[in-house]
Amino acid sequence: MKKFYIETFGCQMNAHDSEKVVGTLLAKGYDLVSAPESADLVLYNTCSIRDKAEQKVFNRLQQFKREAGKGKVFGVLGCVAQQEGERIFERAPHVSLVCGSASYTRLPELLVRLESGERRVTGLSLDTDETFETPYTRRDNPHRAYITIIEGCNKSCAYCVVPFTRGPERSRTITGILDEARQLVAAGYTEIQLLGQNVNSYRDPSAEGADFATLLRRVGEISGLRRVRFTTSHPRDFVKPIVDAIDENPVLCNHVHLPVQSGSSKVLERMGRLYTRDEYMQRVGWIKSARRPIAISTDIIVGFPGETGRDFDDTLSLLDEVEYDSMFSFKYSPRPNTPATGMADAVEEEEKSRRLTVLQERQRGIQIRRNADRVGLTEEALVEGFNRATGQWIGRTTQNQPLNFIERSGNGESLTGRYVPVRVTRAGPNSLAGEAIEGHIH
Ligand code: SAH
Ligand code: SF4
Ligand code: F3S
Repeated sequence: MKKFYIETFGCQMNAHDSEKVVGTLLAKGYDLVSAPESADLVLYNTCSIRDKAEQKVFNRLQQFKREAGKGKVFGVLGCVAQQEGERIFERAPHVSLVCGSASYTRLPELLVRLESGERRVTGLSLDTDETFETPYTRRDNPHRAYITIIEGCNKSCAYCVVPFTRGPERSRTITGILDEARQLVAAGYTEIQLLGQNVNSYRDPSAEGADFATLLRRVGEISGLRRVRFTTSHPRDFVKPIVDAIDENPVLCNHVHLPVQSGSSKVLERMGRLYTRDEYMQRVGWIKSARRPIAISTDIIVGFPGETGRDFDDTLSLLDEVEYDSMFSFKYSPRPNTPATGMADAVEEEEKSRRLTVLQERQRGIQIRRNADRVGLTEEALVEGFNRATGQWIGRTTQNQPLNFIERSGNGESLTGRYVPVRVTRAGPNSLAGEAIEGHIH
């Protein structure tokens, strides 16, 4: 059982967990292969945030069911593993390994047990104060590196599975984080993204006890680093010192992802979000009054139980008031074990779809207007690759906006990983396009 394949679903936390799992297995002598057909061990790192996400892994398992008889071993990791536990063995009897993210340090041991003939092994304890740290992380991107700063979540939003699937909050030590960040910069990474379900509640567990704003400042001071991002912020724990830190150091990117979920204080209360619309708008006010133009993005759920037409109108008016730079939006999906699943006044599926379309159209108009305002400006793009079909380099601004550009007098040298000043010449709803300013490429 030495060749393994892994497919990852879900958020950046999952993507980064997979990088750590891959590194750990490579260090144990396993080989990574790029197709499930040629693997002895097939791993799925799963997401359970909405029903559709959960179904994906069961579809995959169904697809390869017959392979199990030929000696292939199947393992389910991540949030569906933790949520469904041993029930996965009933739903997909060819699965041999079920392991949640709080137990990944035990993965090598679980695999040894499988190899020595055990038919089924599980790692499902959430009773841990451990974080999954390994020196073996195998990162997918050579320029931008993820670093987990806090795992789990102590909030209890009524719709959300994460507190059940990832367990209670555990923060890493500030020294551990800064050491890893320095090593990454020494290895050539120029962008770091700090990860957690709620990074704002970060608290250094060592005597220093640093909070998130302090951590952010310290990471931003590492010499050689060009960009620092962080996700996700919970509005309740978002404090002004975070904005002050961004304002004072251009290495800290001009972007805050601040999920609001709804524009109606009544719905926010039913969701258990712990802030009102006014309190949310106060945070937005801090961000907007910064000296630097800090982009704001958000997540919105439509059709939460009890959401009336008037509540939904409040969400639309919030979009107009904030003028987000981008938005992720979802139809409410009832999840196992969560309080919202039993709530009265469910919204019809058809009405949820209608609201989602209206919401997305409204936001599209806002993005078209906001992006048009950027035409004529010069923005710095971190180059992620080249698009042969369009002849454009693919880049991203500090505000996290896609900025694709042409280079008129290019000498054929790759710009991937470089920081290029670009004059913005065109704008669409989701991206900007422009031309490299010659002679200023770093
Ligand atoms: N920790 C982050 C987000 C975690 S999940 C936060 O607190 O904001 C990412 C997004 O998925 C959430 O912001 C929410 O908009 C959406 N989401 C979570 N549970 C959902 C559910 N049951 N149905 C629909 N969308 C959901
Ligand atoms: Fe889920 Fe709320 Fe925690 Fe975010 S803060 S992960 S939405 S419980
Ligand atoms: Fe999904 Fe788990 Fe992330 S449920 S969104 S993979 S924390």
